[in-house]
Amino acid sequence: MQVTIIGTGYVGLTTGICLAYVGHNVTCLDTDPAKIAMLEAGKCPIYEPHLEELLAEARPRLRFTTSYEQAVPAAQVVFVAVGTPPGEGGNPDLKYVRSAAEGIAKHHTGGFTVVVNKSTVPLGSGNWVHSILLDAYTRTDGKFAVASNPEFLREGTALHDSLYPDRVVVGGDDPQALETLYTLYRPILDQTFEAPVYLPRPEDFGAVPLVSTDLASAELIKYAANAFLALKISYINEIGTLAEKAGADIRQVSKGIGLDARIGTRFLQAGIGWGGSCFGKDTAALVATASEYGLDMPIVKAAREVNRMQRERIVERLLAELKILKGRTIGLLGLAFKPNTDDLREAPAIDIARKLIERGCRVKVHDPVAMERYAKEHPDLATVACATPEEVANGADALVLVTEWQEYRELDWPSVATSMRNALLVDGRNALDKARLTRAGFQYRSLPG
Ligand code: UDX
Repeated sequence: MQVTIIGTGYVGLTTGICLAYVGHNVTCLDTDPAKIAMLEAGKCPIYEPHLEELLAEARPRLRFTTSYEQAVPAAQVVFVAVGTPPGEGGNPDLKYVRSAAEGIAKHHTGGFTVVVNKSTVPLGSGNWVHSILLDAYTRTDGKFAVASNPEFLREGTALHDSLYPDRVVVGGDDPQALETLYTLYRPILDQTFEAPVYLPRPEDFGAVPLVSTDLASAELIKYAANAFLALKISYINEIGTLAEKAGADIRQVSKGIGLDARIGTRFLQAGIGWGGSCFGKDTAALVATASEYGLDMPIVKAAREVNRMQRERIVERLLAELKILKGRTIGLLGLAFKPNTDDLREAPAIDIARKLIERGCRVKVHDPVAMERYAKEHPDLATVACATPEEVANGADALVLVTEWQEYRELDWPSVATSMRNALLVDGRNALDKARLTRAGFQYRSLPG
């Protein structure tokens, strides 16, 4: 099929490259010429494991452009995968969605096209996009149907999540649009493509369920899924605070409850809490949407509040151990909001660094891949950027593991401990082995502890 993707961020680019890999002809459009030039040269503007390798393999079926005129006319399906940054009152700002819809309508040259909302957009956005398409359309020989196809990929495992999804959700009120999307996703639903060598198909992975719904249900599925995952994390963090007081071990509690198949072991890792572009924004949007219907969302609101408090707790933990924060040197290991990405949106490390600086600390930072982005996006934060984790530790009064990169798990901890002024380590992700760290000479604390 002929597919166009508007927006080459995490969602758009991954979707485009995966659909080309499984056999479709895909045009990726972005209004930023620098990104398009990079992609033309075989480079990805974002860090995502294996994305460049898959790009190289799918290259013969991929085109990159900044021009709607080139991208829209031949497309049977156009995905809108542009950014929806936080806007006013908890709702996302839809200005890029609007301009994408206008661009599609202006350059459409007739026939039937399915316009798919892939960006996370509030309830009712499908109808809104349809009305923009109709308003901006000047011809009479074309027909648009709008569908919603929410994205569930996680940064860092985006390709795995796209090629081997738990389910594909498509929503729309036009049967022809749903049929088109079914055809588009067939290679993934039936798993008929050859798995890339570096992304083998999981053992026993069978056909992927397709959930076909009306427009509003698909839009709500996206928000409800993200909010549920966010509150699962906040729940284990709330239990973690109690576990700490009562002398229970939260890692064992997580395992003990997670093995109940009704609960599940995933997203029960206690620690600093969630960051990233989705959970914060989507829970805020859900609360905002509900309030338009006169509804309160006490559970979702509480999940947000618990998450906010976790970041404070890290600072409190350091204060409790060091007694005085002013003048201390604190090292942060990890800046990205989670491992295997360089994304710093709503990253706990940024908040924590800011709070520590406000308290008079000198803050040293390191991240295996996000340093460049950090320098670009946070020039205002007066931290000391370090080239290695060892440099962060050298002479520090405490280290905080903020992002559980594999590289940090494998550090030579005994020599790291010796290089510090005070060998205190606060494991903000419950990712390290307490016994091993204690043997290495650390005073090991975690959150929850
Ligand atoms: C999320 C959703 O998982 C994905 O389905 C949606 O499409 C986009 O939002 P993402 O933000 O990329 O994906 O990352 P995710 O792996 O979900 O992690 C989000 C945050 O939660 C990270 O900061 C992570 O460190 C934290 N987290 C995750 C925990 O604190 N504990 C856990 O057990 C799991």
